[in-house]
Amino acid sequence: MASWSMTEPAFSPRAPRPVRLLVFAATLRRDSLNGKLAALAARIAEINGATVDLVTMRELDTPSYDGDDERETGIPPGAAALKKRLDDSDAFVIASPEYNGSMPGVLKNTIDWTSRFRPQPFDTRHGLLLSASPSMTGGNRGLWALRVPLEHLGARIFPDMFSLSMAHKAFAEDRLADDPLQDRLDRTIAAFVSLVEASTHYHCLKRAWVEFLGEPPGMGDDRVDPIAGA
Ligand SMILES: Cc1cc2nc3c(=O)[nH]c(=O)nc-3n(C[C@H](O)[C@H](O)[C@H](O)COP(=O)(O)O)c2cc1C
Repeated sequence: MASWSMTEPAFSPRAPRPVRLLVFAATLRRDSLNGKLAALAARIAEINGATVDLVTMRELDTPSYDGDDERETGIPPGAAALKKRLDDSDAFVIASPEYNGSMPGVLKNTIDWTSRFRPQPFDTRHGLLLSASPSMTGGNRGLWALRVPLEHLGARIFPDMFSLSMAHKAFAEDRLADDPLQDRLDRTIAAFVSLVEASTHYHCLKRAWVEFLGEPPGMGDDRVDPIAGA
């Protein structure tokens, strides 16, 4: 029989679990500027109450997409790793270099392979895009290019993005040297974590987000060719 004591509240609301973020930099390079930005973003997300799975692109790297390989040997381990980590997360953060005004091939290739799983792992997942570059534009054009495949796959890409220009001179120890820039990064990540928290734990707000985009969850599947024989 359930017991009740004067010392315990009759109703004890439990705090929701922390939101889980997958964070990675879309570069294979050691000493990567985007790797530094990803690590900084991970720390800020943790300060804002999230738990973080910080992974390197090396763990997600895949051979060039080949439909024959897919039919004969299936989807490669790098894409399977990304699918599992997306499945285990509420949202993702990518810090991506810009190559020739677009996203790096290594990232697009992994996205293409990962999109072959069903259910398709990007669908309805929230994402935040960051970039770092030694250039004055900070790699921002690459992020606009990156939005296209991710939104095509049904990911809810956060409207604000953060691009760090002159990134080779921008870091000071474990923060950005420029205080207003650090403040902008802090606020962008705090707002993203809040949205993910609302979407994960408070479904009325999730519905509002979907209505804003104008399509229900699952619509992304209709825009992608079905896997032959699946
Ligand atoms: C093939 C190639 C193309 C690049 N194109 C651009 C570009 O369009 N815009 C830009 O800002 N930087 C460009 N860069 C410079 C990269 O931003 C720079 O190498 C950066 O440090 C790469 O990111 P990482 O440090 O995280 O590896 C390019 C670099 C390479 C190797």
